[in-house]
Order: sequence, then C-alpha cells, then structure tokens
Amino acid sequence: MVNITKDICYIGVDDHEIDLFEGMYIVPEGMAYNSYVILDDKVAVMDTTDRNFTGAWLANLEAALAGRKPDYLIVHHMEPDHSSGIEAFAEKYPEVKIVATAKAFTMMKNFTGKDYTARGIVAKEGDTLELGSHTLKFITAPMVHWPEVMMSYDEKDKALFSADAFGKFGALDAVDEEGWACEARRYYFGIVGKYGAQVQAVLKKAAALDIRIICPLHGPVLQEDLGYYLDLYNTWSSYGTETEGVAVFYTSVYGHTKAAAELLAEKLQELGCPKVAVSDLARDDMAEAVEDAFRYGKIVLASTTYNADIFPFMREFIEHLTERGYQNRKIGLIENGSWAPTAAKVMKGMLEGCKNTTFAETEVKILSAMTEENKAQIEQLAKEMLE
Ligand code: FEO
Repeated sequence: MVNITKDICYIGVDDHEIDLFEGMYIVPEGMAYNSYVILDDKVAVMDTTDRNFTGAWLANLEAALAGRKPDYLIVHHMEPDHSSGIEAFAEKYPEVKIVATAKAFTMMKNFTGKDYTARGIVAKEGDTLELGSHTLKFITAPMVHWPEVMMSYDEKDKALFSADAFGKFGALDAVDEEGWACEARRYYFGIVGKYGAQVQAVLKKAAALDIRIICPLHGPVLQEDLGYYLDLYNTWSSYGTETEGVAVFYTSVYGHTKAAAELLAEKLQELGCPKVAVSDLARDDMAEAVEDAFRYGKIVLASTTYNADIFPFMREFIEHLTERGYQNRKIGLIENGSWAPTAAKVMKGMLEGCKNTTFAETEVKILSAMTEENKAQIEQLAKEMLE
C-alpha cells in the first residue's frame, strides 16, 4: 500500500505465479494488477483485480480504508485481470454504488450472471462524480482495449486513471533494468496495437487535460516527464517510426536463410545503418519480434519456402502484423527454396494490403545455399533499404 498523493492510495497486487499473460505473453518479471482508492468525503475504489488475488487485494483495500467504508467502485475495464474482484467486493460492501459504462454493466452480467444495474451509475462521456474535494471526470475510451473501457480524470490531483493504456508487463517489485519502454512497447503492440485510431482519439481528449500523474492498470504510476510517455504513445498509435534502422526477421531450417539474414545485417551495419535488429522467428519471443516490426520503419523478411507456402513461424508473424493494422513501412524480401521458391510471392501477397507500404525492388531468391550472385543481391538490398 503506497500513497500516490495525499488522498490517492495504491492497493494493487503483484503476480509472480503467472506463466502466460492473457494466455499468450511470457512475463518473466511477472505482472502487476493495479488498483487505487481515493479517500475523500466519499471513498472511490478504482477497479479490482485478477481472480487469484482477490483476497490479497481486499486486504490491501481494508488497510487503506482504515475502518472507513467505500462509496463507489469505478470500473474502467471489464477484462478479468481487473474485474474478477467485483463479485466479492460487491458482496462485502453492499451499499457501494458501481460506476461503469453501459457496456461494462452488460459484461458484468455476462461474466458473473448478476445484474448490478440496480446499484449502478452508468457513466457517459464527460459525466462527473463528486467525491468532496476531488471530482472525477469520465472519458470513454472504446477499444483501448475493449469496447466498454473508460478512463477517469481527477481534477484535483490532475491524475488520469488510464485503464490498460500506458501499462506494461512486469510486477512492480521487479527490477526494471531495460526501462519502461521495452516492456510497455511489447505490451502495447501485443494487446492494444490493432486499435491505433482509437488510441489517437483518446490522446486527443487527453491533450485537453492538465495531466500530472498517470495511473494505469499495469506497470508503474507515471509522475515525471509525462511528455516522454505521451510522445511514445502518439508514435505507436500513429504507426510511426520510433527508431531509425532496419529490423530483419528470418526463419531457417538448415541455416542457409539464417546466413543470408546475418549477411544482410552485416552489410547494413557496414553501410552505417543506425541500428540493426535481427530476430529468429522460431526461437525468439514472437511478441518481441512484433514490437520490433512496429518500432522500426524498415523491415526485411527472410523465409524458407515450406509446403509451397512460407515457413509457419513467418506466416504467424505476418498475421500478427496485418491483424494489427501494419502500415507506413518499407519492406525487403529474401526467399529460399530448393526446388520451387514461393516464399517471396506469398509474403508480398500477405502484406500488399498494408497502407502506405512499399517493397524494395531487390528481391533475393536463394536456391538452397547463397551463391556469389545472392551475396551481391543482399548487398544491393542493404543499400536499397538505406535509401
Ligand atoms: Fe489489463 Fe485489457 O486488461
């Protein structure tokens, strides 16, 4: 339990037992499910927690309340990592009013089988809730990350309760050696990345507010240099280039395609490319590869031909990109195929619908192992990627 301001208290929990967040993402540093309480004339609790931590969260809440009773539960997001404590909380505090969007009340019923509307306050865009010296203003944020999502802005402490936005992987008691952006970027592109337009819409609303504190549902509370975080969110949600350089992604069965990808990386470095990131799509974390594809403005895909198609990990990777609205990129292609190479054609076909995306003219076709001609083509591709 930590005081964020005089009246806002952190009551969330760290999860070090989780193996895969949302059933898909590795979280070696665990996960934090954040929850807050505002202690004013009225007491507002901001979200609940994951199902495995309801007891610990209720204990944190009770300690923060110090004998007081809560008046409101504000539900910003119904995904179960934040909403699983609603039933136990509502039972423990039967006088509490639940504040959420109309869609959230429908989801509450779908998840719990219980209708909370009789003790509910339906929040709409711009509605306010007076707590005493604090006034909460509600900002709807559909599809950041689910349709029922809203944020709250506390006018007194200038705190934005931002739901999943500005969240990251990692428990709060883990040492964050790589800095916020590393796991925040992987989280953003994995979980919210498809909804760039909706994030842009919320950022526009946020620009009209004087925000001094961001209280997300995951990751640390952000209190300093907020422009840094807002700028990154603007770049990510507008599918802009965050880092100058080239990201190279490959799949390889016997090492020949890998050798081509590594030669390309070497040539790019020799030509002064500011940064070259290389990922083996079969062995590296897929979510890390996805975030890199969005981080850099230029990517090269190198794939083995497989079943007259592309290697399965490359197919999965490209699908992750296209389903997240991949756009504004320059793409280079390297294919390998011992008798009938088809990978370049398939990769291009999968990416052709991406908005504002161009393909390098040089396409490298390897028939098993690189020839001298292939090596020259790779050098040419490196030059073209840097133009
Ligand atoms: Fe952290 Fe979309 O839930």
